[in-house]
Amino acid sequence: MNDPTTVSNTRLMRLVEGAAAVAGQTDLTSVLYTTIETAIDLTGARFGALGVVDEDGKLMEFLHRGMSSDQADEIGHPPEGLGLLGTITKRGETLRLPDLSEHPDSVGFPANHPPMRSFLGVPIRLGTEIFGNLYLTDKEDGFTREDEELVAGLAVVAGAAINTARLQRRLRRLAVVEDRERIARDLHDAIIQDLFAVGLSLQATTQKVVTDEVHSVITDTVQRLDDAISSLRRFIFDLRPPIWSQRDLREEVSELIGHLTEPYNAQTEVVFEGKLDKLTPNIVDDALQLISEALSNALRHAGSELVLVEVGQDRDELMVVVTDHGTGFELDEPTTGMGLENIRARAQRAGGEATITTSPGSGTTVRIRLPL
Ligand SMILES: Nc1ncnc2c1ncn2[C@@H]1O[C@H](COP(=O)(O)OP(=O)(O)OP(=O)(O)O)[C@@H](O)[C@H]1O
Ligand SMILES: [Mg+2]
Repeated sequence: MNDPTTVSNTRLMRLVEGAAAVAGQTDLTSVLYTTIETAIDLTGARFGALGVVDEDGKLMEFLHRGMSSDQADEIGHPPEGLGLLGTITKRGETLRLPDLSEHPDSVGFPANHPPMRSFLGVPIRLGTEIFGNLYLTDKEDGFTREDEELVAGLAVVAGAAINTARLQRRLRRLAVVEDRERIARDLHDAIIQDLFAVGLSLQATTQKVVTDEVHSVITDTVQRLDDAISSLRRFIFDLRPPIWSQRDLREEVSELIGHLTEPYNAQTEVVFEGKLDKLTPNIVDDALQLISEALSNALRHAGSELVLVEVGQDRDELMVVVTDHGTGFELDEPTTGMGLENIRARAQRAGGEATITTSPGSGTTVRIRLPL
């Protein structure tokens, strides 16, 4: 009955269905959340989480399911990757424990953290790189060898789905850049050269013209052509691939948050992660606009005393997360506002994505990813 090496058909079917759900997601955040939900569903774990790491194995992002938002609020901040979590994160190996507090690297939980005993951690790989780890805790009677195999199978599918989501994003981005470059080239090669030629031949004509009146009209026209060419050149210059920005995103974000929060009886905390350099002016502008929209909503509508803004950069994306613990709202209800729609549209135009997680009574998280 409990043969640890043969997985039951029912559970295999559920793995296949879960894997299909994961693979069916198009944006990265949905892939990650569906992976956690499927893993919880497959194993009967109470809590599930997915930690994303950077090149140095440092914990960059932590998504979780199974904990009520009140519980999460009480803990206050996501794990910092110390203790056992840090060990697993760096090592990228599967780990299954009946009681995680007995592991030598365990440092215990922060205040207000619900107790957790049994543990299953499985790495998610992208080729040879470790993308992150899938964590499950608190299955009654502990996780079995079979759970481990099923979750390892899910992790392989998740890795492939993450890769696809990133690839699609890069392609979208590339399409935008290529379009701009093509338009710039066409404008330069075809139109400017034409205008230039017209100007030259007009100038040649002035030599032969006798009446002063016609002479001055032509001179005037040539001048206007020159102006048109200059403004086209400026336009083309703007279209060209961007140069790196000298702007300091940290400074600008801090300043923006200060201005926006000041009129409210609330506090906004900001956390920066990663290098945050080599950003194009476009991405800096997008990030500031997106933070401004999401933060204004949190301040105006949520009634939350504390809003958290996180800005982080990893290998290939800039991530912005705005979280409040306020009223939340019904996402499907039609509104007259433009803010949320603008957030989605702006993120998409930049080749990225915006995910809004909310429900009445449970606060709101706006998570935005912009490809670099
Ligand atoms: N963080 C939040 N907390 C609670 N409710 C929110 C939050 N963000 C948005 N909402 C709700 O969603 C609605 C739509 O938001 P949206 O930003 O699109 O429009 P708006 O803020 O009302 O107007 P606009 O952004 O155009 O000035 C809001 O009116 C509000 O009811
Ligand atoms: Mg708004």
